[in-house]
Amino acid sequence: MWGTRNFRQLHNYVNCPRLPTLLAGAMRPWGKGKSLAIAVTGGHTLLFGYLTASGDERFYRDFLMPVARYAIPDGESAHNLSVKACQFKMVPSWQSQSERLKTEVLGMKFKTPLGLAAGFDKNGEAIAGVYKMGFSFAEVGSVTPLPQAGNAKPRVFRLEEDRAIINRYGFNNHGHKIVFRNIKNAFFFRLGPLGVNLGANKTSPNVIDDYVQGLVAFQEVADFYVINVSSPNTAGLRSMQQNDKLRALLTAVRSPCSRLCPDVYFES
Ligand SMILES: Cc1cc2nc3c(=O)[nH]c(=O)nc-3n(C[C@H](O)[C@H](O)[C@H](O)COP(=O)(O)O)c2cc1C
Repeated sequence: MWGTRNFRQLHNYVNCPRLPTLLAGAMRPWGKGKSLAIAVTGGHTLLFGYLTASGDERFYRDFLMPVARYAIPDGESAHNLSVKACQFKMVPSWQSQSERLKTEVLGMKFKTPLGLAAGFDKNGEAIAGVYKMGFSFAEVGSVTPLPQAGNAKPRVFRLEEDRAIINRYGFNNHGHKIVFRNIKNAFFFRLGPLGVNLGANKTSPNVIDDYVQGLVAFQEVADFYVINVSSPNTAGLRSMQQNDKLRALLTAVRSPCSRLCPDVYFES
């Protein structure tokens, strides 16, 4: 920091008797303003850091989310950023304490009936944040055997007035291998059952086999599976809902499933 001594030394160099007084006078208001700016910025950074890390719900709802929505108009970038926020647990924290909301389905215990459907955490990267926010289960995917890029961008469209979006992602995901590793690494953050939503690759020569591969690939980490035959973003996928194809699919997935999870009950 500059002080009177420095100004005196400077004076010796330039030999101007009034220089120290002039410089000190010029710098004094700037120095005060600077200190104030540092204090205010530092204070706000600390406060925002604390509120973000502690998961303060009001701060997220009233400040962070509106600012983020305004600052990131592109839906896909906003989606990716929120997945990152979940990954680092920078999300509001909430856990249900209600006994009444506890639910049991197929032998699995859920803290509430509300979980997060597939599509948000396509690659199993957001598991920690999803449970921290209070969702009773996470459904990872849809995931396909091989990684695939999905449809061309833009492919997520905000409908501001309807408070909705149109999604034409087309099963962009990192594939079974990487998603399995991500889910495995998140083991300690799992506060409820975890499902894996299985899809088929766009260019798959055998769609049914893609689902069967998924059942086998995630057997170590999945509590339940969802077989996705309803996405409109993969050409031909919905034809799997036809009677004969659906029958063939269910027959095929039953056989590894009854081997992997013999306690599963199949409804007709
Ligand atoms: C951006 C986005 C991506 C989605 N991706 C998938 C997906 O990969 N697999 C899937 O089965 N469903 C996907 N869905 C559908 C959701 O899982 C869910 O079924 C749908 O949003 C309806 O749920 P809601 O009635 O609670 O809004 C996606 C939805 C959105 C909005």
